Amino acid sequence: MSNTADNTVSKVAVDSINVLSGADPVELDRRAAFMQQYASSPLPDTEQLQNLGLYINRPALSRLLFMHELYQKIVDVHGVIMEFGVRWGQNLVLFSNFRGIYEPYNYNRKIIGFDTFSGFPSVDEKDGTMVAAGDYGVTANYDDYLAALLDYHESESPIAHKQKYQLIKGDATNSFAQYLTDHPETIVAFAYFDFDIYLPTCHCLELLLPRLTKGSVLAFDELNCPEFPGETIALLEVIGLSKYAIKRSPLNPLISYLIVE
Ligand SMILES: C[S@@+](CC[C@H](N)C(=O)[O-])C[C@H]1O[C@@H](n2cnc3c(N)ncnc32)[C@H](O)[C@@H]1O
Repeated sequence: MSNTADNTVSKVAVDSINVLSGADPVELDRRAAFMQQYASSPLPDTEQLQNLGLYINRPALSRLLFMHELYQKIVDVHGVIMEFGVRWGQNLVLFSNFRGIYEPYNYNRKIIGFDTFSGFPSVDEKDGTMVAAGDYGVTANYDDYLAALLDYHESESPIAHKQKYQLIKGDATNSFAQYLTDHPETIVAFAYFDFDIYLPTCHCLELLLPRLTKGSVLAFDELNCPEFPGETIALLEVIGLSKYAIKRSPLNPLISYLIVE
C-alpha cells in the first residue's frame, strides 16, 4: 500500500487498484489491525453471516442505514432502481434485500447497475486533479462474481425464479442510451449517481430526466465534494441547483438526494 500525499485526502493504491481515502495513517493502521481480527474470526462459518454486525464499523453502518432511508422513500413510487457506478456492488445487494423485505412481490422493481468494472474510462478537466483514468477499478471478472452474489440474495426472497437485476458492463456514456433503446418502457423510481466524474454523470442525467416521475429519488454520492467537482458541475449544467431542494441526512456527510416534485 502506498499513501502518496499528506493532504487530508490522498490516493491509496492496493494491488494496482487506486482510490481516494480521507483516512489518516493512524486510522489506516487501526483498520488494518481490525481486518486481521476479522480474518482470524473464531466464529464457525455457520454463524458468520448472522453476526456480521460484529465487524461492520460505524461509517459503514451509517452508509448502509442511509441506503435504507433512501429505499423507504421509493416503496410507493413505480419504476426501476438504477445505480450509475456500481464498483463492488454493495448498494445493489442492499437494494435487492430491501426489495425482499419491503416489497417481496414487486418483481417489476428491477435493479440495474452500470459500470465499466475497470474504473474510470477517462477523466475530464472538470474533474480536477485528484483523479485519473483507471481509478476505482475492481479485480478481473468481478462482474461475474457480483452476479453470483446477486443470484444468491435473490434466492433468499420470494419470486426467486425471475431475475430482477441487470449488470450493464461498459462505458455508460454509450450503454445507458442503448439500455433505453432496448427497454423503451423504462420508468425510474430511484437513481443513485456514483460515477464520481463529470462526463458520464452529465450524459446519463440528461437521458434520465424524461424517465422520472413525481416522487422519483435522485441520490448523489459526491455533490459539493472538492475531490470530485465533476459530479456537482454535471448537476449544475443539467438540472441546476435551485429547482429541487438538495437534501441530506445526519447519517452521512457526503451523500445527498432530491425528490422530483
Ligand atoms: C466510487 S465508484 C462506485 C462505488 C459504489 N457505488 C459504492 O457505493 O460502493 C465509481 C464507479 O464508477 C464507475 N464509472 C466511472 N465512470 C464510468 C463510466 N463512464 N461508465 C461506467 N462506469 C463508470 C467506475 O468504474 C467505478 O466503479
